[in-house]
Amino acid sequence: MDCVIKRLVFLVLCFVLFQVRRCLPDSLTVNAIHDDGPCMDHTKSYALERYNPVKIGYVRTIDLGSFGQRRMITRALKPPIFEIPDFLTEDECDFIMKQAVKQGLKSSIAKGGLSPKLMPILPENVTGKLPPNEIGGRFEDWDQNNDDVIDILEMMKFAKNKHLLFLSKDDILEMIEKLNISAAKDEHITKMEFEDANILGIDSYFYKLHRLHPKHKDRYSEQTWVKFGRTANKTMTRILKRVMKLTNLSSYLVYGCEEMQVVRYQPFGHYHAHFDSETHTRQNVPCCHQVHPDQRCKICRYITVLYYLNDNYKGGETAFPVADNITLDLEQSIQNREERDIFNLNEFCHAANFIVKAKKRGTAIMWYNHDIDYWNGGWLGDLDGHSLHGGCMVTEGEKWIANSWLPAPYYYNSDLRSMFLNRFEGSATAPMENED
Ligand code: OGA
Ligand code: FE2
Repeated sequence: MDCVIKRLVFLVLCFVLFQVRRCLPDSLTVNAIHDDGPCMDHTKSYALERYNPVKIGYVRTIDLGSFGQRRMITRALKPPIFEIPDFLTEDECDFIMKQAVKQGLKSSIAKGGLSPKLMPILPENVTGKLPPNEIGGRFEDWDQNNDDVIDILEMMKFAKNKHLLFLSKDDILEMIEKLNISAAKDEHITKMEFEDANILGIDSYFYKLHRLHPKHKDRYSEQTWVKFGRTANKTMTRILKRVMKLTNLSSYLVYGCEEMQVVRYQPFGHYHAHFDSETHTRQNVPCCHQVHPDQRCKICRYITVLYYLNDNYKGGETAFPVADNITLDLEQSIQNREERDIFNLNEFCHAANFIVKAKKRGTAIMWYNHDIDYWNGGWLGDLDGHSLHGGCMVTEGEKWIANSWLPAPYYYNSDLRSMFLNRFEGSATAPMENED
């Protein structure tokens, strides 16, 4: 019996020693001891945290470890949006931009956009009818209010619904002029006129416009990913540790973040309003950060940290059309997109509830894309519709930003580790497969 107890004590001691060796408290892990990877502390919960925004304009001082203290200013309550001036140094901004140029930036693709490889052959000035089995081939596809005429608004709405195209009234008039659609010269197409009108021409005009014209793409920018991880430059490691201090999330979550996305916008560059995360409630679809890239998945980004890397351009504000809109009915906003389309940040940037433009490069903004699921112990909750946002059109110069996305698991898949933790593989301090 004595022997069994001794063995037990020995095993417990070994376990404790093993933990102490590998898992010093986060504060030590961050600043001094483990330089190249996260460390799991089994006494700590990995559930999500968030700052209380308190009120708009509220200033708190945050401790960024060896980087010192910074001010964090509440800019919105729903979603909580914070501005952190001087989060990056000018040298760090330069480093990130240089690294991006060295790697080479590629055209960004958002929903609806196509990479050059996937781009089908574009129709050449075709004319005629659209087959009735294709969207737009039937009069009813256009005449949404059933008043037996297609008006300009309905053409705008059709362009939006079928081609994800954000057009103004002037754009439609220009199209009528260019294609010489005589039936529509009075700004209406009746049911009779529809039979002989060049609907195929209109449809392919929309199609091309969306894919070719910088102003009309969902997203017009170039991007690349700058890596974190063991082999990354020390600057990137320093920034990652600072992000951990900023977000107050566990190292396990922060080190499992996506690589840093660096984005460059040229004149006309923009990114229409979108969510950084996805809202699917289907439980059987895993989060993208938890599976191999070619698997079906949804994006589960809890936090976005956006860094402004330069400040010498015009336009290019970051806009949150519905932030702090307490009566938000997102379904309704999507329905009402034809007239005053808040998603279209080329036209309605300044109609947004909250707009930010960093006065000085190095500023970061941080916001929460999701609520927290407190019922199940604090994992990822529902997408917050108020986090809708995008980048307004750059009118002069080049705009450079970078994104750090911090994904988090839902309760039902909280046992799956982030694939991004693999970049610490081989590190003595990397978390183990079954740790959570
Ligand atoms: C993004 C984004 C906003 C901006 O890259 O996802 O929302 O201001 N960017 O460029
Ligand atoms: Fe975004």
